[in-house]
Amino acid sequence: MIPDDVVEQVSQQADIVAVIGEHVRLKKVGSVFRGPCPFHQGTGPNFSVVPGGGYTCFVCGEKGSVFTFVQKRLGMSFVEAVKHVGAKAGIDVQEVDRKREGPDPREPMWELHATVSEFFQRTLWDSAAGAAARDYLASREVPRPLAERLGIGFAPREIGTMRTYLNGLGYDDDRLHAAGLLTRREDQEELRPRFRDRLIFPILDASGHTVGFGGRLLGPGEPKYLNSAESEIFSKGRLLYNLGGARNAIRRDDRVILVEGYFDVLRLVQAGIECAVAPMGTALTDQQAELLGRYTRHVFVLYDSDAPGQKATFRAADVLLSKGLEVRVVTLPEGEDPDTFTRTKGADAVHRLLEEALDVFDRKVQLLERAGWFADLQHKRRALDRLLPTIRAASDPVTRDLYLARAAEAAGVAREVLLSELHAVRRAARRTAGPAATADRAPHGHGPGGGGPGDPGDPSHRESAALPLGPYRSSVEKGSAEQTLLRVLLTHPRWFDQIVEEVGKLEDEDLPSGSDAADALVDEHSGAWRDPVYREIYDAVVDLGADAAPEALAERLDPLAVRVYEDLRGEKDAVVDASASMTDAVRQLRARGVDSRLRALESLLPLAAPGEKDALNLAIKRLSDEKRSLGVQHWGSVRRRR
Ligand code: GTP
Ligand code: MN
Repeated sequence: MIPDDVVEQVSQQADIVAVIGEHVRLKKVGSVFRGPCPFHQGTGPNFSVVPGGGYTCFVCGEKGSVFTFVQKRLGMSFVEAVKHVGAKAGIDVQEVDRKREGPDPREPMWELHATVSEFFQRTLWDSAAGAAARDYLASREVPRPLAERLGIGFAPREIGTMRTYLNGLGYDDDRLHAAGLLTRREDQEELRPRFRDRLIFPILDASGHTVGFGGRLLGPGEPKYLNSAESEIFSKGRLLYNLGGARNAIRRDDRVILVEGYFDVLRLVQAGIECAVAPMGTALTDQQAELLGRYTRHVFVLYDSDAPGQKATFRAADVLLSKGLEVRVVTLPEGEDPDTFTRTKGADAVHRLLEEALDVFDRKVQLLERAGWFADLQHKRRALDRLLPTIRAASDPVTRDLYLARAAEAAGVAREVLLSELHAVRRAARRTAGPAATADRAPHGHGPGGGGPGDPGDPSHRESAALPLGPYRSSVEKGSAEQTLLRVLLTHPRWFDQIVEEVGKLEDEDLPSGSDAADALVDEHSGAWRDPVYREIYDAVVDLGADAAPEALAERLDPLAVRVYEDLRGEKDAVVDASASMTDAVRQLRARGVDSRLRALESLLPLAAPGEKDALNLAIKRLSDEKRSLGVQHWGSVRRRR
């Protein structure tokens, strides 16, 4: 913070004409100066600067002080702008800490990381060990000045170099170990650098402190990228790669380009597009969206063109929308990522893509339209189920209204109908997410939590590794029909054939819903297993046979599934009468299937045209009858939890 009197002093002594004159051709007209407005790119002399005062454009209405001008044109923060103007007026502007006692406790860690970053850079450019990395950069067409600008370095394969260097500077092993730069796998083993034989991207926070690293293997191997471990200064979900470098450009351009990876950022920066940032291998978090919101409200999402990239695009968009940001989707040609596209097609091509970017909602509607999803009732239902969460995500009421109108138009449904659908949160959320979503352990292409398998520093990875220690929370309730059926299968192999037969029937039995629409809506829920772990276990048992050795099964299963398998198998006594339990479970599962179809049909009702309603109502009645005939009132499924 800068004291008020200093701001006042700079403001009084600043030569606003000189400061603005560096960016605009000004001519004296009477007592003021006039020129073309830099804000709306005007050509006439409509932009006026008053010596000792402010500036105004009579056409676009931009106006402000010398500080506002510098902030907007150079993308500086207020503090930076005051310093910038102060320097020109020969005033040394000092920031004072608001009311903090002593230095920031993270200072030593920042300093250490800056030193290590320097070591990596020197290794890259000045050592024999760096030759392979220099070749690698050349092979990816990264010129040295660009690499230097981003502070790229190289972590040598050799175990002792970094340690010796840092020890020599007074950083002892304990400190390097505590900072996660040296690690020790087993107690007897020697300390080793976390990063070895990797190209290093230093990661800075928004204030420019070096807080961590992302390292890419030069050759093939796993994980391809490794990030610093989570620490008091490094929290992957709260940082964005290149935000420090991009923030002035983001403010100046009033937009940010969100890409997936380090090399995408690098290539855009190389093309002169500086406002690019990337999350570090994880799905965009709320905190990252908030962070961006401090600099701009306009986000361009430019992700890989592959399927995981598309999925991640829309997930990121919902997070951004929930923070009130405006989201546009940039669409790359198939097979490209921003790195390859920019390198081969050049900056102009990127600018053209940015200009063609569609608002995320329009893009969704476009994709659904192209796929013919507004053509008939059942698809319309599914299309709306994809659009409604995005409408709901939009925290800005104007945006939400706009989206609602667009969805209504695209689907040919009354706005009021959609509005009531919008409030029926629970039902739609259940349909789109589905019960299986709770157990979704690999949301994006880059492995669990996006961190990539085997990344020891990745918290999401640690999380999934730790998962088997806690109790498994199935997405279906304890004692549910699914669980019972599986338990009987595992504890009473005698019933194996019959259970397989019943499950087969449940999977492909054409329960007469009377409507293809309903069938289309529930197909992801049909069959015996909604719980993905139960399904995994069942599939393995069926594959290996009733008498398979538990060890053989364990080998086939995920660690999590192994644990669930062992739990279920260990509860032999929980099954009193295997035959009765099995029959009852199957009946309940059939009823559950009927119920799913019933609810799917009901969800179509509001969208149906008058001519379609009779047939729907008839089908609904038939299913209700069937449900009643199955005589199940409650089947402990997902319904009460969602
Ligand atoms: P290159 O293959 O070097 O061009 O990388 P890229 O930038 O194209 O990376 P990719 O599209 O494979 O992944 C995008 C981003 O996800 C990367 O920049 C990393 O931040 C992250 N990522 C990819 N693989 C891994 C991994 O194995 N572990 C972790 N932690 N992150 C990864
Ligand atoms: Mn990529």
